[in-house]
Amino acid sequence: MNTIDWKNLAFGYIKTDYNIRCSYKDGKWGDLEVSESEYLNLHMAATCLHYGQEAFEGLKAFRGVDGKIRIFRLDENAKRLASSCKGIMMAEIPAQKFQEAVLKVVKMNERFVPPYGSGASLYIRPLLIGTSAQVGVKPASEYEFIIFVTPVGPYFKGGFNTTPFVILREYDRAAPLGTGTYKIGGNYAASLVAGQRAYDLGYSAVFYLDAKEKKYIDECGAANFFGIKNNTYITPKSTSILPSITNKSLMVLAEELGMKVERRHIPVEELATFEEAGACGTAAVISPIQRIDDLDENKSYVFSKDGTPGAICEKLYNKIRAIQLGEEEDKYGWITIVE
Ligand code: PLP
Ligand code: COI
Repeated sequence: MNTIDWKNLAFGYIKTDYNIRCSYKDGKWGDLEVSESEYLNLHMAATCLHYGQEAFEGLKAFRGVDGKIRIFRLDENAKRLASSCKGIMMAEIPAQKFQEAVLKVVKMNERFVPPYGSGASLYIRPLLIGTSAQVGVKPASEYEFIIFVTPVGPYFKGGFNTTPFVILREYDRAAPLGTGTYKIGGNYAASLVAGQRAYDLGYSAVFYLDAKEKKYIDECGAANFFGIKNNTYITPKSTSILPSITNKSLMVLAEELGMKVERRHIPVEELATFEEAGACGTAAVISPIQRIDDLDENKSYVFSKDGTPGAICEKLYNKIRAIQLGEEEDKYGWITIVE
């Protein structure tokens, strides 16, 4: 513990003291339980193992300028987990229980919340799985909700730095009317081969186009996309991307900064017209995009010639971080303080 180098943390797993669990049985959720074990005792025919009944969330806690711990948009993550559960027929965890569990697990692992100024944060990973035995393809009757936390640094190498992305048309992440809008394990399994290929080629992540026509922008690996031009923040509307809570927040902040906001289909060729581009998400925060290479078309869309982030990406990044760190007033009610 004394050896954690807060300033050089990667986005990885570090064991903390406690995790929280809650079981669903006989049609109802039980009480929250505290565990020190990193392991689960699972039935080998559990539906999460065979038929992918697994959903998760990702949110962060920050040590603020005043020393208080702040959690960003807790209610939105609760809502999205409920939506993911509905999407794959799992028992939904009530928002109040979700919030209570998050506050408890953060409080109990308080010593792992990175110090203010380190640039690191405490990543909170709730997950919900089907646990009862089932051989036919049917939803489970029993579920387990778990939350662990782990201190993390930047998701993409170098933190707030531009990185390159790549269009690889031979891979899809999610079908247009499939499960892309849910945060479920299956979508991430489906993205692993493409992600590794992008990584091997020297890119941060895959830049996905819509699966049906390969005409419009979807998202960037585990992050949403936004482009900036003519003082406008433009982000894709799609039935196969995750509704990012960071993106939703940035749209509000962009308006506050006097920008127009558009959520619409973005044809891939429109990339050539953007002044700046970024990937956004809880893990990614804002990861400004250096360039997007379209290997099939032998084209490259460049947003930063010298590798420095664009001015608007930087403004948005500073603003969202300031709210998360308590340096700026929380006028939208996005913060929950851990007492
Ligand atoms: N898209 C995908 C596929 C993701 O995994 C994530 C990460 O959560 C995001 C977008 C960003 O969403 P959020 O801002 O809610 O973290
Ligand atoms: C997040 O941004 O919270 C993510 O879930 C990204 C990735 C680690 C899956």
